[in-house]
Amino acid sequence: MIAIVGASGRIGSKTTEALLAAGKKVRAIARHAEKLQPLVEKGAEAWVGDSADAAFLNKAFEGAEAVLLIISTDMQVPDVKAYQDSIGLAQIEAVKAQGVKNVLFISSQGGHTEEKTGIVAGVARQEQRLHALEGVNVLILRPTYFMENTFNSIGMIKNMGINGSGIKGDRAFPVIASHDIAVVAAEKLLNLPFEGKSHLDLLGARDYTLQEMTQLIGAAIGKPELPYVEFSYADQKAGMMQYGMSESVADAFVGLQEGINIGQLSAGVRDAASTTPTTFEWFAENVFKHVYQAV
Ligand SMILES: NC(=O)c1ccc[n+]([C@@H]2O[C@H](COP(=O)([O-])OP(=O)(O)OC[C@H]3O[C@@H](n4cnc5c(N)ncnc54)[C@H](OP(=O)(O)O)[C@@H]3O)[C@@H](O)[C@H]2O)c1
Repeated sequence: MIAIVGASGRIGSKTTEALLAAGKKVRAIARHAEKLQPLVEKGAEAWVGDSADAAFLNKAFEGAEAVLLIISTDMQVPDVKAYQDSIGLAQIEAVKAQGVKNVLFISSQGGHTEEKTGIVAGVARQEQRLHALEGVNVLILRPTYFMENTFNSIGMIKNMGINGSGIKGDRAFPVIASHDIAVVAAEKLLNLPFEGKSHLDLLGARDYTLQEMTQLIGAAIGKPELPYVEFSYADQKAGMMQYGMSESVADAFVGLQEGINIGQLSAGVRDAASTTPTTFEWFAENVFKHVYQAV
């Protein structure tokens, strides 16, 4: 049996489906039962609870030959570091208590350091805790910035006719489709055990600038002149808070953008293993366009 934390999410759901299709028993863990229902219909066992609750996770991990862990972000928490650490510590406690032998952790580019990585510092701290576990095989996936993050710009494109963020328009960095991460996660979980402690960078098909991604989005949605506008960090933070983010979370996301601008989120080495198939050209035309039209 494999336990998947965040099973109704983008990576978790596709990973769970692949494991079920291969005949694995899966415990699908998340807080909202209704979002787990499609997986239950495919054969998963729903475990509804909070990943910050060590007693709950302890039961959910009982008998697991492997677990997939994520640390997700709640946009309104007053102290993002405390929130991330409460989840990370509960997961470590449950892995230890149940003697889980194989852990796959979805970290991020930048997960090698807490310095100038913003929101990613939370997964960097979890990487360190996982490294300190004795007798546990740990495979850390370090995916880059998700292509799906561009969905956050749909309101801005519709209401203001621009795409924009605090990331420099001409800064090239890797972007990945979350589905490609799930393919790797499932393949690794179907070939247990992991060996010792290791990490794998996942960097998408190639690097893009936001100017280029904005052009591709513009072409896909019939707005070929769509401009990319670089915001000051202060304006970016104010904008995020206006949409309901706590100050602590907004600071952490602005910190991530600063980290991208200085190359702190591009430590991964591009090679055959870290390069994944989906291009942003394909994503803009086949995914972004349809989500944009549906909103
Ligand atoms: N976005 C990026 O660019 C990026 C880049 C690199 C790495 N990552 C990492 O990738 C991770 C996974 O991303 P994703 O897109 O697959 O996630 P997602 O689609 O946002 O889904 C999050 C999942 O976690 C569950 N969840 C959230 N809080 C929980 C809690 N406290 N206890 C139990 N379950 C909880 C959610 O369901 P419920 O709400 O029902 O609980 C959902 O199933 C992120 O957390 C992030 O650390 C992201």
